[in-house]
Amino acid sequence: MKDFRFAHISDTHFCCEGSSDFVKMVNEKYNPIEKLRFVLENMAKPDFILLTGDTVHEGEAEDYKNLKAVFDEYFPDVPIYTALGNHDRADNFRVGFLGKEPTGKPYYDVFYHDDLRIITLDSAFHYGMKGYLCKEQCDFLKETLAENYGRGTIIITHHPFKWHRKNTALTAEYDLDEILEKSDVIAFFNGHSHINRTTFFHNRIHITGESMSFGTEPWEKKNIYIYTEKMAWNECVLEGTEVSFQTHAVSPDYTIIDTKSM
Ligand SMILES: [Fe+2]
Ligand SMILES: [Fe+2]
Repeated sequence: MKDFRFAHISDTHFCCEGSSDFVKMVNEKYNPIEKLRFVLENMAKPDFILLTGDTVHEGEAEDYKNLKAVFDEYFPDVPIYTALGNHDRADNFRVGFLGKEPTGKPYYDVFYHDDLRIITLDSAFHYGMKGYLCKEQCDFLKETLAENYGRGTIIITHHPFKWHRKNTALTAEYDLDEILEKSDVIAFFNGHSHINRTTFFHNRIHITGESMSFGTEPWEKKNIYIYTEKMAWNECVLEGTEVSFQTHAVSPDYTIIDTKSM
């Protein structure tokens, strides 16, 4: 079984005219797109890239086209598998990023990358911040997972399936426990929280990635979330059915003080 090396990049919040004042401020002051370019320029060519939502912040098709062009500049032939977030607009993504027709529906799909199956679900389509998988998507997941494929399946979403605080994990129209338990799923990848956390969900690794635009952290004693200029991504390896990853922070103060050959 061949190893796969891939990048997990989340919450790029690509800034555009429709973005909030906060995102515009972050863009001007901390320049996430320049950091993304830095990451793509220095990354070894991955087998594929996973984007787990909030890719463009309240943008038009043209904005999605512009974000896609950044990836194409560095890796024009590397497949990108995307799950959409609460700041994405599904049809604008379809038109600008995928070059497809609008459908007015949530964006979910299945991809076959060699002997690996990748399922993307749209947990943000119906209620935005409140992650939810509608019946149509639950049925799609159930039908797709009914048969095993190759070495197994990776599921990507924006909202985590599991979180240790209220109001972050997604809910579903019906119970998916048995479907997931019996399935060939080997890993879950998601974002939304802007802080990384790795746990296990139905005994499969469940990786919530950081954001490539700004960080958030809960300060429970003060009952607040702080927003920071922290940006990071995950460099992942799939050996057989085992996923491992390293988190690379690119902000703040990512000052290279020396280099050494391998
Ligand atoms: Fe986000
Ligand atoms: Fe989000």
